[in-house]
Order: sequence, then C-alpha cells, then structure tokens
Amino acid sequence: MNFADSEIVNSVMVERGMAPTDTPDDASVIFINTCSIRENAEQKVWNRLNYFRSLKKKRQGDMVVGVLGCMAERLRERFLEKEKLVDMVVGPDAYRDIPKLLSEVEDGRKAVNVILSQEETYADITPIRTTGNGVTAFISVMRGCDNMCSFCVVPYTRGRERSRPVESVLDEFKLLSDQGYKEVTLLGQNVNSYNHEGRNFAELMYRCSRINPEMRIRFSTSHPKDFPDEFLHVMREQHNVCNYIHIPVQSGNNEILERMRRTYTREEYLALIDRMREMIPGVSLSTDIIAGFCGETEEQHRDTLDVMRRVRYDLAYMFAYSERERTLAHRKFEDDVPEKVKKRRLAEIIQLQQDVATDLNRQEIGRRHIVLVEGNSKRSDEQLSGRTDTNKMVIFDKETYQRGDYVEVEITDASPATLKGTALRKVTLSDSIAEPVTA
Ligand code: 5AD
Ligand code: SF4
Repeated sequence: MNFADSEIVNSVMVERGMAPTDTPDDASVIFINTCSIRENAEQKVWNRLNYFRSLKKKRQGDMVVGVLGCMAERLRERFLEKEKLVDMVVGPDAYRDIPKLLSEVEDGRKAVNVILSQEETYADITPIRTTGNGVTAFISVMRGCDNMCSFCVVPYTRGRERSRPVESVLDEFKLLSDQGYKEVTLLGQNVNSYNHEGRNFAELMYRCSRINPEMRIRFSTSHPKDFPDEFLHVMREQHNVCNYIHIPVQSGNNEILERMRRTYTREEYLALIDRMREMIPGVSLSTDIIAGFCGETEEQHRDTLDVMRRVRYDLAYMFAYSERERTLAHRKFEDDVPEKVKKRRLAEIIQLQQDVATDLNRQEIGRRHIVLVEGNSKRSDEQLSGRTDTNKMVIFDKETYQRGDYVEVEITDASPATLKGTALRKVTLSDSIAEPVTA
C-alpha cells in the first residue's frame, strides 16, 4: 500500500514541477513513507530519520525532510516538537495538500496535515510508477478499514473504508494495459470489501478481467469475511484472475480469534478454505499469523500450528504480537506473553511453514507453469525471474525470452522460496487456457 501511495505522492510532486533523484544526497526534499503496523516497522523509520538528520546537517539545513503515512498520523507531536527531526508531517489522506505544505516550509514554518478523510481515494490522480519493473503495477481501489481487529492500528491511522468509483479503476487499468503492463494487483487494506454505490469487488474484478485477456490480475489483502461464492466464481471463470489468495488467519484458536475480534471461528475459516479449494482447484494460499497475542496459552498456540498443518499454506507472513497504542487490545487486554515465549512460538511457526513450503515446492518438480517474466534474476543476468499464476517465483535461463513475456516453464528444482525451471516456449495467456497448467 505504501509503494502505491508513494507513486501518488510522486505524481503530486511532478505536478508541482519537481522530479525524483537517484540518491538522497542530491535531493532538496526527502519524504519517508512510514508504517505503524508493528514496533519494528517504526524502529526502522527512526533509524532512517537519524541518517537524514546527519545529511541535512552536512547540507547546512538546506533540505526539507517530511514524514508521510501512518506514523505521521500517530506521532505528529513527537516528530515536530520532541525530536525536531522533520519539517513536514503528512497523514495518508493529505497527499494532495503536499504542494501547499511545502510552500509553508519554504516560508520557514513547520507544516502538518494529518486529517483523515471519509472520501479521499485519490481516484483522479494517475500514479507515476517508479517502483515496478514496467510489467507489474498496483492499482489502489479502496482505502481504510472498518474491521477493528483488536490488535491492529490500521483503522486509527488510515481511517474509515472508502472505495473508488468503478469507472476510475477501469480507466487506470486500461491505461496500464495500453502502456504494456502485464499484471495488475488491485490493492486495498481490505480489498474484497470494495463497494462503490452498491457495486462490489466481484463486479469490479469481473470488469477488470474483461479489459485485456493478456493482463493478469491479483488482489491484496483480504479478510476472510469477504469471500462470497460470487467472487470465487469470478476467480474460477476468468482465466486471467490469478489462482492465488492471501487469506490472513492470525490464529487457529477460537478464544484468541474472539479476543482478536476476527469475527470467524477456526471451523468457519477451515470451511472457507475447503470451499476455495473446491471452487478453484489448485488455488494457492498464503496467510498472516500472529504469535503470542494477549493471554495466548501453549495449547492455543498449538491450535495455530494445527491449522497450519491442515491448510498447508504456500506462503505465510509471520509476526510476534506487538502492542499498539489506542487499539482495543491495548486498552482491554494485557500483553502478558513474555518476549522470549513469543519469539519461541514464532520460531516454531516459521519452522513449520518452512517445512510445508519445502514439501509443496518439491511437489512442483515436473509440473509446467505459465510464468510472467518480470526481469533478470537477482543472481545472474543470464537468467530471468518471474511468477506463476499461483504466485511462485521461478528462475530459468534467459535464452531469447524477455521481460513481459509469458513463458511455459517446466519446473526442475525447488527450494522453500523459489523454483527453478526450463523454458519450453513463449505463450499467450489466452492460448494457455485450453491446456492444463500442470503436467
Ligand atoms: N502485532 C503483530 N502483528 C500485527 N499485524 C497487525 N497488527 C499487528 C500487531 N499489533 C499483522 C497481522 C496483519 C498483518 C498485516 O500484520 O497479521 O494481517
Ligand atoms: Fe487491521 Fe483487521 Fe483491518 Fe486487517 S482487517 S487492516 S488486521 S483491522
């Protein structure tokens, strides 16, 4: 989400006549787009700001430093008064205001706007894409979150849910298609809750999928409450909607799920996973898991491991619980699992996931996948890397293939994180439909 937001800010800045630089040393303005989701995300920002402070000193103060995003909203006083680290503090709904705020700083004032909006979606601002590879791009379709999970600061820092008009998303999609992009990820804190004047995410996804049959579509991130059959149908029927779902479980124990205010039980969650697998054979699944939430017992932790064994996720993002101010958990529950225990439980979760992923990836050997080439592999310019429909990274020899090609690849080797393969032929997404993706 922050990558996508930075591209909106980029557009706002270019509109004001400025251009991005390659290194901070050349910059007259530096923005740092921040995340508050966990303590260590914030710690990284403080470290980075100290570096910018020294840079600014070296330049005799001739540089503007601004903090954008969730931490701006959460810690504005600390940034401006106590720490004296920054000149500008801009919350996630105030990026349009940046030119005005910059003028205030140029007039010698500190500038702040952290007001959250019920409407802002930046629907009319075309992002200037700097973070991608010319093949994959994000479209932000909704912002904010109304779920109020008890551990999560997002509803406080990013505000209420709101969605962009369908037409504005379709227009941006068409533009990316015309520019030669091959994959779009529809983004939102809660993307499946998309709703604009009664038009839901299933409809938005369907309409996007019809724009260009050669354009893959992904989406991120989703709450388990938002997966009606109608949406799973669209995933199944539209060949260019990728068979990959990120479906955060957070915990495998009902009491913890209740305390987290996740609104589902483990049984309901597992039934949803079954339904997904039934409707979309071969669908790949990933999740988010929190270890050591308030009051979690050893037995409750084992329930999480048990759900992981049952589902067998292809990928998981795993975290130790980190208490966030203002959240319900902060107000109501005690963060009473000792740090050492949290770390040990997290290590067990990570180990199990590593074992499952290794196993699942080994099963890929001998199968064939359509890989969208994103660029050279990190290790070698003689090799390309790209992802399967199921979101697995595959590396193979370059030969005559290029970034942006769809290539049918046979998998020859597997590690927990990546697959290796041999390219067979260049294909289009449309002619790959008739053939089974797996051998
Ligand atoms: N502590 C640890 N992990 C958290 N997440 C959100 N809030 C917290 C927290 N306070 C995790 C959840 C969420 C992901 C984006 O970050 O797993 O799905
Ligand atoms: Fe946070 Fe829950 Fe909203 Fe996700 S759904 S952003 S975890 S409050």
